[in-house]
Amino acid sequence: MTYRQVPDAAIRAVGLTKHFGTKLALDGVDLEAAAGTVLGVLGPNGAGKTTTVRILSTLLRADRGRAWVAGHNVAADPDGVRRRLGLSGQYAAVDEKLTGRENLYLVARLYGMRRAAARRRAAELLEFFRLLEAADRPSGTFSGGMRRRLDLAGALVAKPPVVILDEPTTGLDPRGRADTWTSIRELVAAGTTVLLTTQYLEEADQLADHIVVIDRGRVIAQGTAPQLKARVGGERLALTVPHVRDRERALGVLAGLGPHRPDFDPRTGRCTVATDDGARALEYALGLLRLAEVPVADVSLAPPTLDDVFLALTGHTRPEPPPGAGAPTPGGRHRENS
Ligand SMILES: Nc1ncnc2c1ncn2[C@@H]1O[C@H](COP(=O)(O)OP(=O)(O)O)[C@@H](O)[C@H]1O
Ligand SMILES: [Mg+2]
Repeated sequence: MTYRQVPDAAIRAVGLTKHFGTKLALDGVDLEAAAGTVLGVLGPNGAGKTTTVRILSTLLRADRGRAWVAGHNVAADPDGVRRRLGLSGQYAAVDEKLTGRENLYLVARLYGMRRAAARRRAAELLEFFRLLEAADRPSGTFSGGMRRRLDLAGALVAKPPVVILDEPTTGLDPRGRADTWTSIRELVAAGTTVLLTTQYLEEADQLADHIVVIDRGRVIAQGTAPQLKARVGGERLALTVPHVRDRERALGVLAGLGPHRPDFDPRTGRCTVATDDGARALEYALGLLRLAEVPVADVSLAPPTLDDVFLALTGHTRPEPPPGAGAPTPGGRHRENS
């Protein structure tokens, strides 16, 4: 996989390789984030996201390959990297007994700030992350989204020009996710370079200027969200067949629309197929199904989502995180066709 050779890359990794025992976790990962942009590292559980993050943030050494953050080599100058990098790990690292304000004050003091400066910085960050109201409650009483934002605030205490966020919204409810997205957008508007990892395709689509898709320790695709979508081509024709007895027939009709195999979700009865001429395919399919007296519901025609891109690139869908859980289980749904 070639990388883009961005001249002012704030983060650059070339050929990162890492084994854990015999397990090959990273197999030559290349990536770049231009200064002031958001790089989304998108991949399912176990893809190698956290391993990449740990190498970039000097917490782990690569077996092979090189990486730079803000121009500093992670292996040769780890202190230089740490001075310019804010890290928010996959699991929010806040002390639940301390208040939000105390957590940030503590981090600021650890960075060597004097008391007054540490108090000021904590207050600034609480305001920036809309945590002022709850600032003096123990952070153990915070919602998941608030805790995540507090952790993010902790990563920003020293005003780093580069920030790495490892799965910033995994396990958050939609409200917590939306709030975290807003904070990340504000961070970027203020000029910070962000690398964020995610399992959520729509999150990369929403936030990232450039996306690398990783699977099993390799970069399998990269580009902007529209570029990735274009690689899969065509629109998605989807319809729901309410009666089980009709499903074979409906799938047969969709299979006749073109070279793509239809996909079928047995839980919902939803049939989906990629088509190059959506409107005509829709008309044709509905005509045939009407003749066959097959009732259909929820008919739609939509551009491919990043989920479709992932399926097309890897032959498997991303694993679904269990609701509310921070750590999704490995494996995941596999579709029969690819
Ligand atoms: N400390 C470790 N020891 C052994 N295996 C590890 C360790 N850290 C990660 N791995 C393995 O490396 C692979 C990549 O893991 P990770 O980078 O955590 O993936 P992700 O963050 O994308 O879910 C996985 O197969 C994982 O089990
Ligand atoms: Mg991880």
